[in-house]
Amino acid sequence: MLDGFLTESIVGRAYESELIGVNVRNVRDWATDKHRVTDDRPFGGGAGMVMRCEPVFAAMEAVQTPGCRRIYLTPDGDPFTAEKAEALSMEKHLVLLSGHYEGIDQRIRDNIIDEEISIGDYVLTNGTLAAAVVIDALARFIPGVLGDEKSLTHESFTRKLLDFPQYTRPAEYRGMSIPEVLLSGNHTEIEKWRTARQEEKTRQVRPDLLN
Ligand code: ADE
Repeated sequence: MLDGFLTESIVGRAYESELIGVNVRNVRDWATDKHRVTDDRPFGGGAGMVMRCEPVFAAMEAVQTPGCRRIYLTPDGDPFTAEKAEALSMEKHLVLLSGHYEGIDQRIRDNIIDEEISIGDYVLTNGTLAAAVVIDALARFIPGVLGDEKSLTHESFTRKLLDFPQYTRPAEYRGMSIPEVLLSGNHTEIEKWRTARQEEKTRQVRPDLLN
């Protein structure tokens, strides 16, 4: 699932230029039985399977380094935000654990996980895409990953406002023109217009960000 993501586009370039490094490992490689089973039925009954302690503890012990931050991706974790992405971008080594079944044994979460993150109020079939989202969002905070550093400091969410509308050439397309102010060359007016659009959009779509 991560191959294409790691080799394409901005994250691909960051990976190639070694601004970030990602090692993808499979917990099944630490299963000791013949069928490499990593899950089992839940104590107390109920639907679904639960990831077992043994392979996950063994995998974690094999990959963790002193001072690394161990994160479990789960829909019941802390909400992922731009602030969180920025904080994680400063860590030297993250271990991102994604669950693949109904859940994982609570003893894993209690003992070898430092932090739990959710990327949103929906349930994915597994945490791997969530881990990719975390990697992508934090990579953008690593100096050199984005071509133009300004695009980060300027962008929405770092300032808790949604973005203003963007236009490029041609100035008129199929009878649709662009806001006059953008052609004025008056940078003060353009900034004012952009801020007003941001506030308007945020008020409409995400009023919670303004509070
Ligand atoms: N695993 C499954 N759903 C998830 C979510 N929303 N966030 C993080 N990890 C998940």
